[in-house]
Amino acid sequence: MSGFERRGGELTLDGVSLAQVAQRFGTPCYVYSRSMIEAAFRQFDTGLAGVDHLVCYAVKANSNLAILDALGRLGAGFDIVSGGELARVLAAGQSAGRVIFSGVGKSEAEIRGALAARIKCFNVESEPELERLDALAAEAGVRAPVSLRINPDVDARTHPYISTGLAGNKFGIPHAHALAVYRRAASMANIRVAGIGCHIGSQILETSPMDEALERVLDLVDALALEGIGLEHLDLGGGFGIRYRDETPPDIGAHCARLAARLKGRGFQVMLEPGRAIVGPAGALLTRVEYLKLDKEKRFAVVDASMSELIRPALYESWHDIVAVGPDQGRAAGRYDVVGPVCESSDVLGFDRDLAVAAGDLLAILSAGAYGMVMASNYNSRPRPCEVLVDAGRAIEVRAREGVDSLFALEKRLPPR
Ligand code: LLP
Repeated sequence: MSGFERRGGELTLDGVSLAQVAQRFGTPCYVYSRSMIEAAFRQFDTGLAGVDHLVCYAVKANSNLAILDALGRLGAGFDIVSGGELARVLAAGQSAGRVIFSGVGKSEAEIRGALAARIKCFNVESEPELERLDALAAEAGVRAPVSLRINPDVDARTHPYISTGLAGNKFGIPHAHALAVYRRAASMANIRVAGIGCHIGSQILETSPMDEALERVLDLVDALALEGIGLEHLDLGGGFGIRYRDETPPDIGAHCARLAARLKGRGFQVMLEPGRAIVGPAGALLTRVEYLKLDKEKRFAVVDASMSELIRPALYESWHDIVAVGPDQGRAAGRYDVVGPVCESSDVLGFDRDLAVAAGDLLAILSAGAYGMVMASNYNSRPRPCEVLVDAGRAIEVRAREGVDSLFALEKRLPPR
């Protein structure tokens, strides 16, 4: 499925020369493949074809309007976690009726905005949130559709920073309290109980914890039915892992087909919230080597991207493959730490990489489509990079590079004394 391919030795994306993309738009630059994003979405969508379903793309993974637009055209719903993400989805021309709102800290303003927009469902994560939602729905004169996010207490066996379904995580309502909270929700005048959900973590490589979570959620569904609390949908979250180095990602199509078979005939709409698996493999960060710094102890390839553009290696020690974009020129390979210009020792994009590079060469940091640009910052007053979408042989700039002026456009000098 990968659209990253060498042609004449040179790295291309869906047939488009990445050297030309860098030439035209500059570096650092994120580049994405529309066709890879669409193919990944279709794996979920087709896998669930046997049941009524809605695949809600987790906007946090990559929230560029063009990507939201492309996915919306395929019938995607959207999982959001802030008022900002709701605004993006609407700005991308998508309907609020396909939006679900997750997150532990929804503010009053965010809830008001989502109620006014008439989103499909609030994924409620605590009893106090339920109370706030009931009160604000009363104020707005509407009934708020609610799904409780259950913490099923299963181990997703992933990095502790991105594991969310264990007791002791801040996320979700403990499984043992769920019935009581549902009873409360069902008794509230301005709440409509619509669904149930869970999300146990991210970059999950084995689907068995997801299966376990599903069974724990189904136990609750049955217990609720006995009390006369019926549900319209079941949301099993996201978290599907991808290959960064040598991992074997789960077979999405097969997993979804198994889900559909397990849930067929139960009358729910089945929902998923994948982010990374849809956009991660479809993106790369293009960067140019500024200097080769050859110290006694270490060799560094100093590039023009940094932790400001891609923080995952610094934050999670995560691996991204780093490859030369240009053809092999027969140079001897050396072992380098690929580092950025930012003044932090943790500003390393990859340790100990064997690269046959020279200053001025172009590199591609792969599998960077998810949690890349969305986590970029202006640290060290670095303007955020541009984003380019490759679509049917064309390279389209879908976000311009920030200008230096925008770095401090909202700031003010002191008033006169
Ligand atoms: N649904 C909920 C409620 C979530 O919290 C998340 C991710 C997703 C769906 C989408 O998960 P995905 O399919 O993308 O794994 N910044 C980290 C990942 C944080 C994930 C947060 N929640 C990283 O770069 O690895």
